[in-house]
Amino acid sequence: MHIDPSKWDALDRAWTAQLEKAPHHPDAWRIEQMLATAPVQRILLHMLAIQPGWSVLDAGAGFGLLAMELAGQCALNVVGMDIDTGLLDTGRQVAARLDADQWFDHGAALQFVEGDLYDLSSEQARYDFIISRFVYQHLTDPELATDQLVGALKPGGHLCVIDVDDQLGITYPEPSDALERLQHAYAAVQEHRGGDRHVGRKLSTYLDAAGLDVSLTVVLPQAMHVPASVSDPGLAFTLSRLAQTREEIIQDGAMSPQEFDECMEIASAEQVTSRFTLAAQLVVIGTKPG
Ligand SMILES: C[S@@+](CC[C@H](N)C(=O)[O-])C[C@H]1O[C@@H](n2cnc3c(N)ncnc32)[C@H](O)[C@@H]1O
Repeated sequence: MHIDPSKWDALDRAWTAQLEKAPHHPDAWRIEQMLATAPVQRILLHMLAIQPGWSVLDAGAGFGLLAMELAGQCALNVVGMDIDTGLLDTGRQVAARLDADQWFDHGAALQFVEGDLYDLSSEQARYDFIISRFVYQHLTDPELATDQLVGALKPGGHLCVIDVDDQLGITYPEPSDALERLQHAYAAVQEHRGGDRHVGRKLSTYLDAAGLDVSLTVVLPQAMHVPASVSDPGLAFTLSRLAQTREEIIQDGAMSPQEFDECMEIASAEQVTSRFTLAAQLVVIGTKPG
């Protein structure tokens, strides 16, 4: 797949227009985060040996930015699948705008469908390439999902899974005690729901156990220097995400309401100093024996 970077501007403009339509929507921060990290995420596209004409599944597509990027660059049959119909609807609106501008690659087809990674029985041996990004950290049963994804691959097809491992993160200066307590509470809630913020290191084992030949394991670092004069976008996303999870954090007993509110107040009022952050993603590709 040949990547033409000049196409990203129009894609980002379409998403910015979507954001401007509903700036106070509860999902607005997710779109902002997606746009802020898109340049680094797009480095990954250069690693994918996807061929024109392939059927591609973006499993757990969310808003479907990655599905759009693929259909914008190559004549692929792309399906963006997610369990959350609200996110898919937003993706459909943006895709319709891009389609009207003839932004997608000539010969590409893109559709968004509701679906559950735990039951892909209707998708057997359908895809040449399946990609699943930042989904495994939320899965209670990643082994079952992997088996289902492998079933949806054609023989010789490839599964690419991308996810975080929090142990690969560095921040300098260290985050405040208040922010660290909030982040631990958030991670505890995600773990309680069955998720895993250290899933990155386990991905190759999941693919191997599901019978794939693991052909690529790569760490994709995302480093950022935020000057003191600029508000830290990473901190803003983190605070929005924490504010949305307040009730769950309290219900799970990870923090009392007073403790949560005090920590949020301290973290939000924190003096902005220049900051270096590094986060890394694990990218693993496995091939289904032919
Ligand atoms: C953090 S988002 C990642 C979205 C997108 N892949 C990206 O890289 O921006 C995780 C997504 O996984 C979806 N998801 C979680 N469990 C799922 C399941 N069992 N079946 C389908 N989608 C699922 C969620 O609805 C959510 O959209």
